[in-house]
Amino acid sequence: MNVLLTGGTGYIGSHTALVLSQFGHQVTLFDNLSNSKKSVVARIENIIGRSCSFVEGDVCDTALLTATLAEYSIDAVVHFAGLKAVGESSENPIDYYFNNVQGSISLIKAMETQGIRTMVFSSSATVYGSPQQLPLKEEHPTDPANPYGRSKLHIEEMLNDLAQSNQDWRVVCLRYFNPVGAHDSGLIGEQPQGTPNNLMPLITQVAVGQRSELRVFGNDYPTGDGTGVRDYIHVMDLADGHAAALEFLKESSGWHAINLGTGFGHSVLEVIQAFKTVNGCEVPYRFAPRRIGDVPEYYADPGKAGKLLNWSAKRGLDDMCISALKYQNLVEKAS
Ligand code: WQD
Repeated sequence: MNVLLTGGTGYIGSHTALVLSQFGHQVTLFDNLSNSKKSVVARIENIIGRSCSFVEGDVCDTALLTATLAEYSIDAVVHFAGLKAVGESSENPIDYYFNNVQGSISLIKAMETQGIRTMVFSSSATVYGSPQQLPLKEEHPTDPANPYGRSKLHIEEMLNDLAQSNQDWRVVCLRYFNPVGAHDSGLIGEQPQGTPNNLMPLITQVAVGQRSELRVFGNDYPTGDGTGVRDYIHVMDLADGHAAALEFLKESSGWHAINLGTGFGHSVLEVIQAFKTVNGCEVPYRFAPRRIGDVPEYYADPGKAGKLLNWSAKRGLDDMCISALKYQNLVEKAS
């Protein structure tokens, strides 16, 4: 299929572009480069050994989206484009609703004009809010605790209404847990602009000496060792999940929400220890107060992904830590 990836030069978009190409799809990357670099396109082409199209543009530009869908004879869309920093979303909520929700409406309108009604949507486990029970199943109540999570839930609900209104729509909303790691080549990975929010890029920056130490936010949680527990999933497993979702939508219509996680939780200290052990390096850290908005633990029940998509995570924490540092070292040298 010809697949458009909005946000395709981003962290998860670029890895998904790789996997979809290897699956035989022709991918077109559509990105405004607000949080990624165009050089990613050449790196993807280097890895897959063939070209992939790139269009610089914003998903709020409905006319450009419409023209792009037509020009590349798109059959399906994987929609990554959006703002994704939880803390920032509380400071600038309207930016999040405009870029994420309005951007999705713009995309849907463009798709409708071209008769394209197959979408895999990049959603997030943040839609669940604070867990009432674990592991998290898709039936768990959705009660996001921040504008970022609410924007994702609004988009899911819009897509559900759309699928109810027109049986031709085929939608999978993939609810990601904590994506980490990088492609084995180390050529693409998570390279946040500015100061990272997420744990793994901060660990890699401490490991290479770019930062002096890591702050561990809270060691008094009701968890095994008192630090936060999350379901870390290798970005390549996540990318495989998108390919599986597109295959599923070839035979299935309607709207489906599906968790993508390993089903296992690891604490911050366990991640630090695994990183040090597999990479043979030090990661200096100190305990700091809890971060506002954090919950003690959450991890997925990936059973529905197994049943509907025949997908499960294959890579473990060690692979995540090795690939993350390899990318940090290569990017460090390149930049
Ligand atoms: C993981 C753990 C922190 C940084 C967020 C978004 C979520 C998704 C993934 C988009 C927590 C601890 C972190 C640090 C630390 N993004 N930590 N020191 O908050 O679980 O999820 O990213 O979809 O929507 O909410 O990820 O990597 O920020 O934190 O101790 O310097 O690491 O307290 O326990 P989080 P994270």
